[in-house]
Amino acid sequence: MVEQIRKNFSSDNVVPACPAVMSALAAANADAAPAYGGDAWTARLDDVVADIFEHPVKVFPVATGTAANALALAALAPPYAAILCDESAHIAQSECAAPDFFTGGARLVTIPSEDGRMTPEALSYKLGRLPADDVHNPLPTALSLTQATEWGTVYPPAHIAELTARARSRNLAVHMDGARLANAIAHLGCSPAEATWKAGIDVLSLGMTKNGAMAAEAVVFFNPAHAEQFARRRKRSGHDWSKQRFLSAQILACLEDDLWLNNARHANAMAQRLAGGLFRHPGSRMLYETQANEIFVLLPDRAIAHLRAAGFAFHDWDTPEGVDGTVIRLVTSYYTRIEDVDALLETLSEI
Ligand SMILES: Cc1ncc(COP(=O)(O)O)c(C=O)c1O
Repeated sequence: MVEQIRKNFSSDNVVPACPAVMSALAAANADAAPAYGGDAWTARLDDVVADIFEHPVKVFPVATGTAANALALAALAPPYAAILCDESAHIAQSECAAPDFFTGGARLVTIPSEDGRMTPEALSYKLGRLPADDVHNPLPTALSLTQATEWGTVYPPAHIAELTARARSRNLAVHMDGARLANAIAHLGCSPAEATWKAGIDVLSLGMTKNGAMAAEAVVFFNPAHAEQFARRRKRSGHDWSKQRFLSAQILACLEDDLWLNNARHANAMAQRLAGGLFRHPGSRMLYETQANEIFVLLPDRAIAHLRAAGFAFHDWDTPEGVDGTVIRLVTSYYTRIEDVDALLETLSEI
């Protein structure tokens, strides 16, 4: 079983929760505690996150990234709104229209990009097509950026600042899907503040599950006006856990002693090692520069079959038409060891 999971590169959510999180859950389980966020763990969240992000915040734990994104966007977008995002965004591709549902009908307007990072020009072009004074189109009220992106690339903070400035000039609020924000920060070497509110982010879905938690994400509001009645939104969605201490304890454990960033640094380093080896394989082609912990690589079908026959797991991804081979996605995590990476590369070298 352990052997199998060590060969599983299909996602960063297939691995176990990390020991610090399990200990924190056990500690939170030692006694009774007040329900619905009245507990001592939840009481610390705002201060701990504010310290790390160097800004006052309101923090709301939820159990999934989809809930974090959909509820955060619902706080920014009325039913007649347009939410702009990259065409690859998880909110547009993989959340079963949850943002549309929780906003009561807002439309996701997608913007094409080369590598998951929308350009300021493409954003301005799309905004230009959605004039505020024309009742025939939905009113853009929110921009959502994914960091790290769906293609494993990372926006530099200056790029984010340029996008948020253009959004702000049209009165849009800006959401960040930070399911892999820790990996982005680890790559950039910047502070959490520089990666978020200093670059113009208003609301953050701060991911923990892919980075060592069992199931916990934090919706972080840098602007308290947007947090108004968020507790009710969360309640209606069924994410107001009565035993909220178990969500909060996971988030605190991840943030303590920089565990979230150390885990992400390790995951990124494993991705670099893996990408470097894959790059050297004849017939391979990296689709994007590996900057976080996801690798998208085109490999000959024979090589892919050989890896699978040896027990390695990963997902096939969209393969451009007419190319010889298949694009696969490989994801590393805090749990990936050097020997796991090397075992995959060695198996590949047998081809
Ligand atoms: C970028 C991004 N955002 C959000 C999510 C949603 O997370 P969940 O599956 O916990 O709803 C994912 C999960 O794959 C993701 O990759």
